[in-house]
Amino acid sequence: MAKILVIPGSNRSGSYNVKLAAVAAKELALLGADVTRISLIDYPLPLYDADLKSNQGVEKNALKLAEMISVHDGIFIASPEYNSSISPLLKNTIDWISVIRKKDDKPWTPLKGKIVGLGAASPGNLGGVRGLNHLRDVLVSVGCQVISEQTLVPTAGKAFAEDGSLVAERAIKSIGNTCQSLHRVSQVLG
Ligand SMILES: Cc1cc2nc3c(=O)[nH]c(=O)nc-3n(C[C@H](O)[C@H](O)[C@H](O)COP(=O)(O)O)c2cc1C
Repeated sequence: MAKILVIPGSNRSGSYNVKLAAVAAKELALLGADVTRISLIDYPLPLYDADLKSNQGVEKNALKLAEMISVHDGIFIASPEYNSSISPLLKNTIDWISVIRKKDDKPWTPLKGKIVGLGAASPGNLGGVRGLNHLRDVLVSVGCQVISEQTLVPTAGKAFAEDGSLVAERAIKSIGNTCQSLHRVSQVLG
């Protein structure tokens, strides 16, 4: 059974990406995955600052997230698009985790080789695809293996039903495909 960590890239109350993360978590659980859904609200991090890191070491919450990542085979990230790019919350979180090099004096790079699936929900018509392209590049640059399938949810204000499920046929099919692939690859390579 693959262990999958689900992370929404937004802490906003009423976030569309929190909703999308919930849909993905449900889908992955139905596929038989052991799913952990977290909120980055519980792991606050200061803006990455190399002096802060040199003086005080890697932030505790970055280390906690790194531990969480390392005990999972795969990750699903639901990410908002900000100015055609990655959300500052996600970029900062990835930056902090990416500077971890050691655990108990042994080499440790928790993101390296991690299988990742992506989704985005956005009020716009493009569904956050430009943000996901940048997020994919960033994750690949820190050694993640990002699967090709991804889910875009455009016009997100109208995309979710009262019970949190997706409304549009296309989005329902897409999240199914993304989760199936993430689960399968995490089982084999995770
Ligand atoms: C600074 C800023 C830039 C944004 N840029 C984009 C954008 O480029 N494309 C887009 O689709 N939405 C953009 N948005 C709108 C967000 O997609 C919208 O606020 C969305 O609800 C954020 O995701 P969430 O609902 O998960 O919090 C932007 C919002 C802000 C605050």
